[in-house]
Amino acid sequence: MVYRPREDSRLLKQAVTSLDLEDKKFLDMGTGTGYIAEAALEQGADVTAVDIDSEAVEQARQRIGSRANVCQSNLFTDVEGTFDVIAFNPPYLPEAPGGSVATVSGANGAQVSRRFLEQYPDYLKSGGRSILVTSSRNSLDLDGAQVLGSSSLWFEQLKVVDVEDGF
Ligand SMILES: C[S@@+](CC[C@H](N)C(=O)[O-])C[C@H]1O[C@@H](n2cnc3c(N)ncnc32)[C@H](O)[C@@H]1O
Repeated sequence: MVYRPREDSRLLKQAVTSLDLEDKKFLDMGTGTGYIAEAALEQGADVTAVDIDSEAVEQARQRIGSRANVCQSNLFTDVEGTFDVIAFNPPYLPEAPGGSVATVSGANGAQVSRRFLEQYPDYLKSGGRSILVTSSRNSLDLDGAQVLGSSSLWFEQLKVVDVEDGF
């Protein structure tokens, strides 16, 4: 089941569209339906969008295929080049029945995000920005990172953080 855009997606979109993306190389990691990638395209970015899930890749291709480079990749495995902006709304919930690759990420909810944090520096241009969605429901500690946006729901607090700036 491909993840439909929700509160976290909208929060990330707000952060992304507040940036000057004209002619910038933009990577939408875990693109899902291509919602964030499409927003970056509308801001004039040169967009690459990847997802581990082949069904998501198919849906994103239908949405933005001819305007962006869309491919299947487990994080950066099949990503080439470097980017001015890398954005990721990762799976961030602890493993639970009914969870999927789109929502859960190991026992503490942070497994995929931690791997992303280890790998993204090799794909970011000097002076670039790496933007990640985090949730109070997982164990990821990004206290040093600049908060670009947040949203409090009754069951969790979501933040969009710039991990390149101060992390
Ligand atoms: C929370 S959804 C976000 C989807 C979309 N970006 C949005 O904001 O609506 C997380 C997405 O990350 C993808 N994903 C999970 N693990 C991944 C990995 N290791 N590499 C690439 N994508 C991954 C999932 O398939 C899913 O589409």
